[in-house]
Amino acid sequence: MTISHTAASQQAPAKKVTVATLAALRARDEKAVFVTAYDYPTATYADRAGVDMLLVGDSAAMTVLGLPTTVGITLDEMLVFTRAVCRGAKRAFVVGDLPFLSYQPSDETAIRSGGAFIAAGCDAVKCEGGQRIAQRVRAMTDAGIAVMGHLGLTPQSLGQLGGYRVQGKTLAAVERLTEDALALQDAGAFSVLLEAVPAEAAAYVRERVDILVYGIGAGPDVDGQLVISNDALGNFVGDIRPRFVKRYADVGTVIEASFRNYASDVRAGRFPAPEHCYPIDPAEEATIHSARPSIVAAAKPVVAAAPDVAALLDSTTARELRDVREARVFAEARA
Ligand code: KIV
Repeated sequence: MTISHTAASQQAPAKKVTVATLAALRARDEKAVFVTAYDYPTATYADRAGVDMLLVGDSAAMTVLGLPTTVGITLDEMLVFTRAVCRGAKRAFVVGDLPFLSYQPSDETAIRSGGAFIAAGCDAVKCEGGQRIAQRVRAMTDAGIAVMGHLGLTPQSLGQLGGYRVQGKTLAAVERLTEDALALQDAGAFSVLLEAVPAEAAAYVRERVDILVYGIGAGPDVDGQLVISNDALGNFVGDIRPRFVKRYADVGTVIEASFRNYASDVRAGRFPAPEHCYPIDPAEEATIHSARPSIVAAAKPVVAAAPDVAALLDSTTARELRDVREARVFAEARA
């Protein structure tokens, strides 16, 4: 029995998505669903939801680490996030994003960095640039590493691009994009991701290459759609709001409100309540309670303030009587 992509998405079967699966989706004209993930819970929920591909993006620099751009994140930091995501991705195809300067310096750097992502559990790596990094892509693919290129708005070159600007807005610019995509294809990349380009530009490129073309802010005519999960879920702490983002939740507001409620419960003594405390045998509890120095000390003035009773009893008997009463009240309150 064959399971359609739609049914598979709903059931999130554990059969791992591979490059062949992605090619088959394209052959059936079905879109791949692609989100970023930086941690185990997000990867797990996305995987359960039937997401096909997870990108451990260097956007973690901004979404998780609070850095102003992506360039400050290191390979070691990326690998921590990557291992967590790979543990959660039972089915999804995981792409590790090569951070700034982890592949540009030399072929060997690229192979070692790409290899580190594969050793961490990734199915492929992604790197930014076209013709100018084609040699690095070739070095990695020759080493057996599946590579996704990244063209258009490439955040590791923000300085050269002049900021977060839409790319490929003229025919000449789209032709350059296409040449870059073809260079990646020739270097053995299995796919290319187009970021922040007009829909027509993405369609133009896709019609001219054989490899898979994914998009983030590249319109509908591509093989799959990527979103940054924090943008879609509403928990990006920052003020960059690309036009292409569609928000599916307001998780940031939910988190902040939950912490406010928690803080007010703690400050008002509403948390923890008895149901949040571990029960033990009531007799043991009473014994422990009555042995607490603070209970004994706090109770002394009570005895002193009741001279009529205390006067009738020696001090040891008075303390025992008080402890038994307190223990009973405590045990009844917990019952
Ligand atoms: O790091 C990332 O999330 C990315 C996307 C913005 C394409 O590279």
